[in-house]
Amino acid sequence: MRQRLAVGNWKMFGSLPENQALLDTVAAAMAGLRKTICVVCVPFPYLAQTQAALAGSKVAWGAQNVSQHPKGAFTGEVSAGMLREFGCRYVIVGHSERRQWFGEDDRTVALKAKAVLTAGMVPIICVGETLSERESGVTEKVVGRQIAAALDELGSEILKGAVLAYEPVWAIGTGRTASPEQAQAVHASIRGLLAKRDGSLGDLAPILYGGSVKAANAAELFAMPDVDGGLIGGASLVAQEFISICRAADQTSGRDG
Ligand code: PGA
Repeated sequence: MRQRLAVGNWKMFGSLPENQALLDTVAAAMAGLRKTICVVCVPFPYLAQTQAALAGSKVAWGAQNVSQHPKGAFTGEVSAGMLREFGCRYVIVGHSERRQWFGEDDRTVALKAKAVLTAGMVPIICVGETLSERESGVTEKVVGRQIAAALDELGSEILKGAVLAYEPVWAIGTGRTASPEQAQAVHASIRGLLAKRDGSLGDLAPILYGGSVKAANAAELFAMPDVDGGLIGGASLVAQEFISICRAADQTSGRDG
């Protein structure tokens, strides 16, 4: 059975008092989750606060970026080992905002995923096409290239420790969600690419959908057979929205029932 996940990506939002209220509310509400892992990926300075608030709860936590290097003279960077010290279990890598604004290419993203896996955590590897790429009909080609980079660098065996997230760039923070059918089509093509290299990777890799997921549309997206949960930006900052989305992931069946 494939793992289901609902992952909040706080991006560069938060403050100590706001975070505390959000974390406490989410932790209390998630006690009853049956099969879904709920995760919050917070800005680096809030990891200690998040660890203290969520330790012993059903909610896991993680970061939104990491250095590909284990240590060294890399001013401003944060290593996977450091994240591990704060109890992180998940690290988002290759988010489109990192690719777009911070020049991360496919190979850098793959090296970051490798650093996360080497430190014993789970990378959430983001892929997705821009609006112009979708409109020119190259969605599967672009996503295929991004997935191939991860497969080439890591190999299929190691990639079994990762989570993938399909996030069409045109749907992120725009309020414009991919339809369940659009999401399913790309998820199925990703699964096909993985299966071509390794059948059990194709079967087992959790593939999350991200891009304007809200309480109102989560259930229909998560009911698609190849959608194993979501990566949630804006709505993860609103406790009741995020709680409803996590419950939707837990209550919909996806492929495995
Ligand atoms: P959004 O962001 O839910 O605000 O569209 C998703 C993401 O960037 O991961």
